[in-house]
Amino acid sequence: MEKRVLKDENDRVDGVYKVTGKAKYFAEYDLPGITYAALVTSNITRGKITALDTKAAQKAPGVIAVLSHLNKPSTPGYEQEGGSPMKIFYTDKIFYNGQPIAIVVANTFERATHAASLVKATYAKEDFNTNFEKAVVDPKAKKLQGQPDYKRGIENAYQTAEVKIEAKYHLPIETHNPMELAGIIADWRANDQLTVYAKTQGVKSTQGTIANVFKIPTENIQVNSEFVGGGFGMGLRTWPMEIATIMASKHIGKPVKLVITRMQMFTMVGNRPAAIQTVGLGANKDGTLTGITHRAFGETSRYENFTEGLVNMAKFMYQCDNVNTQYTVVPVDLGVPIWMRGPGEATGAFALESAIDEMAHALNMDPLEFRTKNDPEKDQQRNKPFSDKNIKEAYRVGAQKIGWHERKNEPGALANGQWKTGFGVSVGVFNANRGRATVKGILKADGTLVLQSATSDIGPGTGTGMTLIASKILNMPGDKIRFELGDSSLPPAPSQGGSATLSTVGSAVNDVCVALKATVAELAANSNMDATSNFVDVLKKNNLPAIEVTKQSQAGKEREDYSLYSFSIHFVKVKVNSLTGVVKVDKIVSVGDSGTIVSPKTARSQMVGGAVGGVGMALTEEAVVDHRFGRYINNNFADYHVPVNADIPEIEVHFINKPDPYINPMGAKGMGEIALIGFSAAVANAVFNATGKRIRTLPITPDKIL
Ligand code: MOS
Repeated sequence: MEKRVLKDENDRVDGVYKVTGKAKYFAEYDLPGITYAALVTSNITRGKITALDTKAAQKAPGVIAVLSHLNKPSTPGYEQEGGSPMKIFYTDKIFYNGQPIAIVVANTFERATHAASLVKATYAKEDFNTNFEKAVVDPKAKKLQGQPDYKRGIENAYQTAEVKIEAKYHLPIETHNPMELAGIIADWRANDQLTVYAKTQGVKSTQGTIANVFKIPTENIQVNSEFVGGGFGMGLRTWPMEIATIMASKHIGKPVKLVITRMQMFTMVGNRPAAIQTVGLGANKDGTLTGITHRAFGETSRYENFTEGLVNMAKFMYQCDNVNTQYTVVPVDLGVPIWMRGPGEATGAFALESAIDEMAHALNMDPLEFRTKNDPEKDQQRNKPFSDKNIKEAYRVGAQKIGWHERKNEPGALANGQWKTGFGVSVGVFNANRGRATVKGILKADGTLVLQSATSDIGPGTGTGMTLIASKILNMPGDKIRFELGDSSLPPAPSQGGSATLSTVGSAVNDVCVALKATVAELAANSNMDATSNFVDVLKKNNLPAIEVTKQSQAGKEREDYSLYSFSIHFVKVKVNSLTGVVKVDKIVSVGDSGTIVSPKTARSQMVGGAVGGVGMALTEEAVVDHRFGRYINNNFADYHVPVNADIPEIEVHFINKPDPYINPMGAKGMGEIALIGFSAAVANAVFNATGKRIRTLPITPDKIL
C-alpha cells in the first residue's frame, strides 16, 4: 500500500484513492486460476424443490461445477441441531422468491451466468403471503413479540388527555442499495486454509461466521476488506450466497468469485422491514405531554426472526410520566430483513416525530416550542442523567440557519403561485455505543507511525478519524501516520455498525498513543535527553528501530451512571407544487449534538449522507412486491429511486462540538445513525406545513399529495 497523505484536519486519507480509482474493492481482486460463480434462484415463493435438473448446465461450455442441496460439500456447522440462520443447500424448502437454490461455477462470468439459466427446478408450491399490511390485520397470521412491552405510569394515558391525537404511520420495505454490489471471493486451499475478499462491515465477524459454519480454526481464515463501497447495514452479517461461494471453492479447490446482480441486491442481502405504527399522544392545553403510546408492527421472514429498536425513542426522548410501547413482528414469505441506515430507530422516529408535530398543531403551538417545553431533564426510562445533551442549543442554531422565523404556524400560508413553502423539524437520537477494541501502534525511527486494528471503513472515514486522534496526541503530522484496517489478522475490533467505531476503536488508538508518548518520555529521561525531544532522536539515541504498544480499550463504569446518547435536529424547507404534487426539498440544515468532532470533514460528510438517505426515505424509496407472485417488481436503479444530485439542495451541517465528559477520552459520540434518524419526519412535517396535508405513508409521492 502506498503512503496515504493527510494534509490537515479537513482532508481525508483515502480521498485521492477513492476519486482516482486506486481504492481496490473486493470484486477487483484477481487471483491466479480464479473462477466465476452465478446463482440459480427460486422462482416460486413457498414450497419445496421436487427435482433439480442440472445436466444441461453441467455440459455447458466452461462449467466447472454445479452445487445444490443434492451435492453440497460438508459444512459441519450446519449439521448441528438448531440455529436460525438459513442453512443454504441443507434443505429442499423454499422460503421466499429469489432464494438461492444452486451455484454454478465456470471459467468466465458470462459462462457461469448462462449455465445458471439452464438449471431447471421443479417445485411443489404452497400458499404464501408476502403482503405485510395484510398479515398485520389477519387474526390468523402468526405474530411474535419483538421486544418486551414497556410501561411507566398509566397505560394509554393519552386517551383521557385534554388534547389527544392518535395516528397510524406506514413504512414500505426499503433496500440498502449501496453502489457496490455484494458478493465474495473465496480461495480455499490445501489443509483448510481459506482467504476471502469480502464486502463486509466486520472482517472479524465474517471470519467468525465462516469458522462456525465450516468448523475450521479462525487462524486458518484470512478476511480482507480494505475498501467497502457502502454498506448501510447489509454488510453486518455473512449471507447464504457467501457461504455457497466458499462451499464452491472448497469443492473445486480453486478461487471463486461471486458478484450478485442489482436485482439480487433486493433478495439476498436484507432490507429495511416494512412497519405499521400507531402513536397516541396526550397533552394538557398548556402543551405539557401527559401520555405517549407507541405500538409498532415490523415485518420479518418465516425462516429467521429479525427485530430492531422500533419503539426505543418514545421511552426517553420527551418528559412524560405515562409511556407505554409495544412491538410485534409479523412473518411474511420474503427474505429476512436486516438493519438499514439508522435502522429501527429511524423507522420509529418517523412515527413519533410526525406525531409530535401533529400534537403541536392540535395545540396550535410552534413545534419547536412544543419540543422545547417537553425536553426531559433526565432519562426517565433508566432514571439516570444524560451524560451530555445540548438539544435546546441545537434547536436554536438550526432554527436560525433555516430561517424558522419565516415559518407560519398555519399550514399553506406561504404560497407563491403554484409553489407552497413549508418548514419542518424533527429530532434524531441513537445510543452512543462503545464496544471493545484492540489497537497496535508501531512508532518508527524513520519518523512514522503505523496503527493497526481489524476494524472496517464502509465509507465514513475511519482511517481519517483514527489518524487525526493519533496526530493530536503525538503532535505528528497526519501524513506520517498510517492506519491499517480491513484485515482479520490485525488486532480484533467489532464490526462497523451502530455508530460505534470512532468511539470504540478511537479510544484504543488514544490509549496506544498516550502509552507511546509515555514510553518515549521515559526513554528520553533515561538517556538524559530533554523531555521535549523528538521521538526520532530518542529512538536513534537508544538504537531502537521502533517501539510497539498494543492496547485493548472498552467502556468503564460510567455507563452505569449516565445515559449516553447522540442527538440530531433536522430542519427542512420544502416547496410543494400544488398542481403536480411534486415536493422539492429547498434547504436542509442538520445539527449534530454528538460530543467532540474529531474529523470535521468526514463528520460533515456523514451528516450529508444521512440527509441524502433521509430524502430517499421520505420521498422516493420503496421496494414494491407484486403479491400475486411474491416478487419485487422495481428491483433496479431505474425503478427504485435513490435520490440523485437533482433531488438534493445545499445541505448545511452544524455541530454543537462539545466533549461528552463520560463517553471516552476524545469526548466524541457516534453520528452514523443520527444523520438519518428523524429526517423523514422533518420532510413530512414540512409538507404538512406547506400544504395542510398530513402524509403518514412513506414515501411521500405526488399521488399522495394531490
Ligand atoms: Mo448500520 S444500519 O449500523 O450499518
